[in-house]
Amino acid sequence: MKPWPVTILTLFPEVFPGVLGHSITGRALNQDLWQLRVNNIRDHALPDKHKTVDDTPYGGGAGMVLRPDVVATSIREAKAQQPGAKVIFLTPSGQKFDQNMAEELGAHDAGLIVLCGHYEGIDQRVLDAEVDVEVSIGDYVLSAGEVAAPVVIDACLRTRAGVLGNNETLHEESHSIIDPDSNESLVEYPHYTRPAEWEGQAVPPVLTSGNHAEIAKWRLHQARQRTKKLTK
Ligand code: 6GU
Repeated sequence: MKPWPVTILTLFPEVFPGVLGHSITGRALNQDLWQLRVNNIRDHALPDKHKTVDDTPYGGGAGMVLRPDVVATSIREAKAQQPGAKVIFLTPSGQKFDQNMAEELGAHDAGLIVLCGHYEGIDQRVLDAEVDVEVSIGDYVLSAGEVAAPVVIDACLRTRAGVLGNNETLHEESHSIIDPDSNESLVEYPHYTRPAEWEGQAVPPVLTSGNHAEIAKWRLHQARQRTKKLTK
């Protein structure tokens, strides 16, 4: 399989690969299951002494806005390097990222171009012209798209063949419990390991009973309780 290509467009290229260079995604990177290119948007700055990339918003208001000409050049370079890639823009006003979107983006073999926003935003004209989908990772405001990028990329990578090892796949399956009665997905049950007693707290005795049917029943009950508590 060809490596799944990801290009990040950012004003802070030094923060990557960061966490993506470790653990499961780092191993997958070393195995060439995916490929990371990090492009500095400032490479396409105006040819002035400040290397200008932004300006004040038309109509007034706080903050700065990235210029469409600068961002367009950066996106178009990435598209030339990575033909067919899906271009996503990370913004708190985007479409909410979820497991479904992770699977859709992860299934796009031509890969992703991930545009990280800063300041107040990016000129809307270049977003309309060059971006396929605006994505938010949740209902809160982050300082920079760079904080959200590893979340989106990690979740997409985990959906791709070979990224999770056997153990991690089994782990994943054991964590995605479906209620056999309602067919609804439940959050995970609690986990315990040695020592059997720690600071006066014993492990639930059923887990050391060796009775696998009782253990499965107990875990299902715990998962239901936790799911109920989370959704009420
Ligand atoms: Cl993708 N970016 C920023 N700056 N804030 C966010 C976000 C993204 N998703 C939720 N909040």
